[in-house]
Amino acid sequence: MCGIVGYIGKKEAVTVLLEGLHHLEYRGYDSAGLCVLPSAHSRKRRASVVRSVGKVDALVDLVSKKNVSGFVGIAHTRWATHGRPSVANAHPHSVGNIHVVHNGIIENYQSLREKLIERGCRFRSDTDSEVVAHLIALERVKHDFETSVYRALSKIRGAYALVIVCDDDPDKMIAVKNSSPLVVGVGRDDFIIASDVSAIVQRTKNVLYLNDGEVIVLSRDGEYSVCSLNRLVKRRKPQVIDWSPEQAQKGGYEHFMFKEIFEQPHAVVDALRGRVVISDGLVRLGGLRSVEDRLCQIKRIVIVSCGTSYHAGLVGKYMIEEYAGVSVEVEFASEFRYRKPLVDKHMAVIVISQSGETADTLAAVREAKNKGALTLGIVNAVGSAIARETDAGVYNHAGPEIGVASTKAFTSQLSILVLLTVLLGRGRDMSFVMGQKILTELERIPHLITSILKREKELRVIARAYVKNDAMFFLGRKYHYPIALEGALKIKEIAYVNAQGYASGEMKHGPIALIEDGFPCVFLAPKDSVYEKTLSGMEEVRARGGRIFAVSTVGAKEVSSIADDVFFIPKTLEMLTPLLLVVPLQIFSYHVGVMRGLDVDQPRNLAKSVTVE
Ligand code: F6R
Repeated sequence: MCGIVGYIGKKEAVTVLLEGLHHLEYRGYDSAGLCVLPSAHSRKRRASVVRSVGKVDALVDLVSKKNVSGFVGIAHTRWATHGRPSVANAHPHSVGNIHVVHNGIIENYQSLREKLIERGCRFRSDTDSEVVAHLIALERVKHDFETSVYRALSKIRGAYALVIVCDDDPDKMIAVKNSSPLVVGVGRDDFIIASDVSAIVQRTKNVLYLNDGEVIVLSRDGEYSVCSLNRLVKRRKPQVIDWSPEQAQKGGYEHFMFKEIFEQPHAVVDALRGRVVISDGLVRLGGLRSVEDRLCQIKRIVIVSCGTSYHAGLVGKYMIEEYAGVSVEVEFASEFRYRKPLVDKHMAVIVISQSGETADTLAAVREAKNKGALTLGIVNAVGSAIARETDAGVYNHAGPEIGVASTKAFTSQLSILVLLTVLLGRGRDMSFVMGQKILTELERIPHLITSILKREKELRVIARAYVKNDAMFFLGRKYHYPIALEGALKIKEIAYVNAQGYASGEMKHGPIALIEDGFPCVFLAPKDSVYEKTLSGMEEVRARGGRIFAVSTVGAKEVSSIADDVFFIPKTLEMLTPLLLVVPLQIFSYHVGVMRGLDVDQPRNLAKSVTVE
């Protein structure tokens, strides 16, 4: 996710800004920039704006070659969402005397951009953020700086954290928070504002967390005021935090993996943002617009990916075949690229990749393209090789995943596959009622995940009972078979448990030979269309002395009488249950890994992005 830093006070802004940007580097980014307003005694009248692609050090180099000086400034590290990484797309975006840095997504930027172009505005970037600078600059012609910001805000929709400065009101900085984080460090006679407290804690521990829909005006004489979007004054006081810079990067969580597990409700919201039209039971995926007609004619889909992304693809197969009626195969990219896949121009090859750089998946894209297939990407990293090389695609917008084991990217991928199912289904014979039903329930998922996360301690207790087991089975049926595979992969990666995932119906065809007294089996047993069959599988394990941890849905009483340990998740549609079931498995694996004293963020032998074969 992008990073924001702003400074207003008595120190050289550029020093504080660059220091802050360095502390945000851990979040991942592709370009950086800053803007410093000239001080009152300077002969310069306009801000110095410096932007560069690549690391913050490249920006430091550029800044050192220019005369950048002043006490008020804003800075940004960009992680591309709209438009590839480039100097033009890097922030700050400047229009007239207005300079803006933005995190988040402006949902209605397309329509705003079209209107602004009609009014004669010239856009210099592909970003959604630039519309904000134009809107404020247009208002500034008639109004003061603050009023201009409020008037512009009334026109934008979406998730945003914005920090804005103005050349001709140089002792003021305005910031707004709406669904994207923003924290203000309150120093003795200055302020540092940032998207992440890790850019602040080395300067002050006195911080003010803005709430959604709040606007703060900071001035160079050390005063601040907080108002709602309709300009009602709010009384807000700073609080003292005692986090170290390292703790701050992890948002107070002990590990990135745990933080990212807890970010999942947001990751799902961000995957759906601006893409769901409940009233029509429809989905709008801007990145697929150019190929929508072709997609509606497609008779066969092959989903190609690796690891966790492959498991997401398996869930996608079940959803698309059941609800959109299109035949789907799922294949490991490493196999697809070397065998002779039957691919032609009448089919679509969908690749799923968090990093967008996985070598096998990229090779599969090239193979599919050579054979004339329509290639689509579900990718988290904007501008990555896979995003560039596929014909069209959908971005996850899940923000960077730092923990090596994939968690929030997976739930985000599942959310997009649900959207794709509805898109494909509604283009065929899925009814309006069914489309609406799926989407309405999908919008409830973030709230349901939150309710699971709140009960995380129950899973810690259960994990303790399994910490000494070096082997384990994960068993699930139908939609939950891929989740059994994912559960097994997670605990393998981060707790080094020799775990195997199976379709529970396969147990009696071989794996059951391993069940003996105390052998642990994790069953995915929600009350759904295959519930009774899953219960039979559990009975078979219990009869042989196996130890059972079941994840089931509230109200499934039978499970408690068979399993040794049970965790209940809320009810939802069967096709959406994977989005909930995987969360307790991630937390379970995390705790087993931590209790075994392992480095869960960087497990041995693994890399976040597998760019070699
Ligand atoms: C597992 C994990 C890996 C990745 C796989 C594909 O936790 O992270 O299995 O899912 O290497 O990576 P991407 O999605 O970046 O192509």
